[in-house]
Amino acid sequence: MAVQRTFSIIKPDATKRNLTGKIIAKFEDAGLRVVASKRIHMTREQAEGFYAVHKERPFFGELVDFMISEPVVVQVLEGEDAIAKNREVMGATNPADAADGTIRKEFALSIGENSVHGSDAPETAAEEIAYFFSDDEIVG
Ligand code: CMP
Repeated sequence: MAVQRTFSIIKPDATKRNLTGKIIAKFEDAGLRVVASKRIHMTREQAEGFYAVHKERPFFGELVDFMISEPVVVQVLEGEDAIAKNREVMGATNPADAADGTIRKEFALSIGENSVHGSDAPETAAEEIAYFFSDDEIVG
């Protein structure tokens, strides 16, 4: 498998509890490299646009309110098979289903406040990276 890039968000429940470093350590321990990173406070428009694919879901309003409630850390992670590797390190969306040692098992509070987001496919990774970063902000 070739070197890939994927997009990651450390979500408000995690930044609020000062877990940014512990979560980045999990990525790095798994062989993922942080090649872009910034701490931002998303606007409502940014969050609604980012999660537009979920806009018909019953939890959309709750999801957007949560994502703008505190700062987040948006990142680009690079490595061999980075998309799948990141999803493995994150664990299942619902922390109740997440495997031992994963970020969501150790840190997530609920299916909504689940500490991290990660791209699910190469196309979404490219779109999500471009949503928050310009090419010159990514330094591999
Ligand atoms: P994420 O990977 O960021 O993509 C969409 C998010 O929607 C997901 O993580 C969860 O945080 C959130 N989500 C999914 N299902 C629910 C749900 N049933 N209730 C609240 N939030 C949800």
